[in-house]
Amino acid sequence: MGEELHTRAELDDDWICGRLGEDEPWIMGAVHPPVYENSLFTFRTAGDLAEAIKDEDERYVYWRGTNPTVDLVQRKLAALERTERAKCFGSGMGAIAATISSLVSAGDHVLVLGSVYGPTTQFLRYLGKFGVTHDHVGDPDVLDSAIRPTTRVLYFESPSYMRYDVVDIAAVASWARSRGLVSVMDNTWSTPIFQKPLTLGVDLVVHSLSKYIGGHGDLVGGVVAGPSRLIRPLALTEYQLYGAAMSPHDAAKVVKGLRTLPVRMAAHQERGLAVARFLAGRPRVRAVHHPGLPEHPGHAQALRQMTGFSSVFGIELDTDDRAEVAAFLDRLRHFRIGVSWGGYESLANAPALTTEESVRATMGIPVGFVRLSVGLESADVLIEDLALALRRVDRLA
Ligand SMILES: Cc1ncc(COP(=O)(O)O)c(C=O)c1O
Repeated sequence: MGEELHTRAELDDDWICGRLGEDEPWIMGAVHPPVYENSLFTFRTAGDLAEAIKDEDERYVYWRGTNPTVDLVQRKLAALERTERAKCFGSGMGAIAATISSLVSAGDHVLVLGSVYGPTTQFLRYLGKFGVTHDHVGDPDVLDSAIRPTTRVLYFESPSYMRYDVVDIAAVASWARSRGLVSVMDNTWSTPIFQKPLTLGVDLVVHSLSKYIGGHGDLVGGVVAGPSRLIRPLALTEYQLYGAAMSPHDAAKVVKGLRTLPVRMAAHQERGLAVARFLAGRPRVRAVHHPGLPEHPGHAQALRQMTGFSSVFGIELDTDDRAEVAAFLDRLRHFRIGVSWGGYESLANAPALTTEESVRATMGIPVGFVRLSVGLESADVLIEDLALALRRVDRLA
């Protein structure tokens, strides 16, 4: 009976988020696990230290490599993604850069499917100076014609960055595996609460923890999760050498963020969909790109591989005039204007006002595009805010 409950708990996301690993060590019954603030760990004998250094990925020696508070977050995230290991970093980009560079050498090639986070593309361009090349492919049907003998990695996001296109994850992962590539997917948009790509055949998953998982706009962090055979080498090499370690203080905040992640995601989903439904078909709104709406072209596929939808999505205002887009944003009172997403507060941002023209055009994002991150405020208040801002655009026209 005890065994059975234990097994069930290990597959229960609520329990993993809130309880896994938190009862050990039991210190005076404290409800929050201790924060291990120390940079180093000492040993009784020189021999003990020598032994620990041999296994620096598993043993506590120095915080740049391992820390018990960070370890707790890693155990929870690995369990949520239903995989063996996770390694946390000081930022999502730290995790992405370390992961890609652990998989390639000079002369290798990376294939990128669909639109991905801008700095990920910038990092791939940066790798060019070490002789690593990459190509972007818009459609899975042309992957076969884009693969080269030197291709090692297939990198993608689903839903994709800013465009929210949905990829058939199992099909793409199976294609990559059959060609001997390692597939890497950024799962930040969905979080493991709504989507578990490793169970669909993806080799490695990366996340920015700075969005929903942290959830309170008070930390920057990242993680890569997957089988030990892929995580261990990067934990011993790129993690140690790039020094993009997560601090125990940030890890402690992630522990708190995780406790409420399942309930926050349910609320984000409900509010995000309410706002998206209000905007769909509204005068001055040309399109709403939310994969949770039945009219979204990827909706049927999304239902096959996701158990819910987060609350970041795009709308297209019916204008090609930057001044009108700026007027819309400036009229918002409850949505704040800012980058990032996935926190308590609702945010709006327009790539036409913040992104280099050529980059925006390459991503296929029109001038009138506005990204909304629906937070946890009342959906009615947010809807009224958007209605008033749309009226302002109408008056300018
Ligand atoms: C989809 C996605 N992946 C990765 C990142 C990078 O994460 P971080 O800002 O924690 O480095 C971001 C940041 O905005 C993102 O939106």
